[in-house]
Amino acid sequence: MLSTRIKKLLKDIIICPVAYNISDGKREVSPTRFSSTKVFFNKNNYNIFNGIADLRMPEDQKYTAYDDILPDWNTEEPYTSTEQALDADGLNKIHIKNKLVLIAGAGNGRQINLVLKLEPKLIVVIDFSNYIDTLSLKKKYKNIVFIKGDLVNLPFKCNKFDYIFSGGTIQATRSPELAHRNLWRALKRNGYLNYSHIYLENLHNRRVSIDRLKFNLHNKNKKNSRLFLKIYSYFYYILIKTRILKIVNRKLFRLPFLIELNGKANANAKYYYDGAIDYYISRYRHVIREDDVFDWFIKCGAKAIRTKKGFISKK
Ligand SMILES: C[S@@+](CC[C@H](N)C(=O)[O-])C[C@H]1O[C@@H](n2cnc3c(N)ncnc32)[C@H](O)[C@@H]1O
Repeated sequence: MLSTRIKKLLKDIIICPVAYNISDGKREVSPTRFSSTKVFFNKNNYNIFNGIADLRMPEDQKYTAYDDILPDWNTEEPYTSTEQALDADGLNKIHIKNKLVLIAGAGNGRQINLVLKLEPKLIVVIDFSNYIDTLSLKKKYKNIVFIKGDLVNLPFKCNKFDYIFSGGTIQATRSPELAHRNLWRALKRNGYLNYSHIYLENLHNRRVSIDRLKFNLHNKNKKNSRLFLKIYSYFYYILIKTRILKIVNRKLFRLPFLIELNGKANANAKYYYDGAIDYYISRYRHVIREDDVFDWFIKCGAKAIRTKKGFISKK
């Protein structure tokens, strides 16, 4: 059930994605009314389930590739302290405290927990996957509105958010630059757009991507693909633990790179598997050049700077 306050907010910020995308498009059609299970626009309506409006394009509503990944994806926080995480992601409390923040791409909620520590006025979380239903029930979240939506068909009006934070997500969209333009237009003047963990072009990511294409798991039956990666992860773990991997002739035999190149020593098999399903099963995983990210911002009339783990720019 949506509270009056949330309905008021949604009325102010959301648009009908179908109307925005029709050929004479770019019309920001606002909702006309809400029922407990639907949000109505002029010609279209969208479901609300457990307080979450599904503002994805109708053809995207049934299934997304991350529906198969996120229930298994329990990646650990890579930082030992909040300060370290904030520093890596270039997050600053003075930009976020008492502000309206959009988190673009929720995953398993890691970044929601981080941003909550910076005392925003309200967080809107948008994600493409149906897993957001499960995520929203995981904790008693306060001051958070969850929305199902696509960054590439962003269901928000222009100039609405004070701060937009998107981690590890833009490379998983169909069209990263289009997603960027959408996020940029939803940002208020003087607001910040912050990307962390973009999948940049480097030796490691190139190798992983070549492997992704070679194994082609993202185009195969997802259940079998998951099983394949699970078996490989355990197999790799045993080879490492028994030190057999060192003496294996690598010209004759090798494992999917991601499992080997995940960057953590002494991990367990589940850790290898968690990383691998994200890299190998997601529908899209674009390798993005650092120069291109700067160029996305330049094309929007702005200049981005690097943070330790990403990019940030003021509008
Ligand atoms: C690898 S997870 C990263 C999530 C999280 N920010 C983190 O780093 O832990 C990628 C997320 O992007 C979401 N996603 C993929 N394509 C999307 C799109 N077009 N619009 C919105 N979210 C998308 C997926 O559903 C998934 O939750």
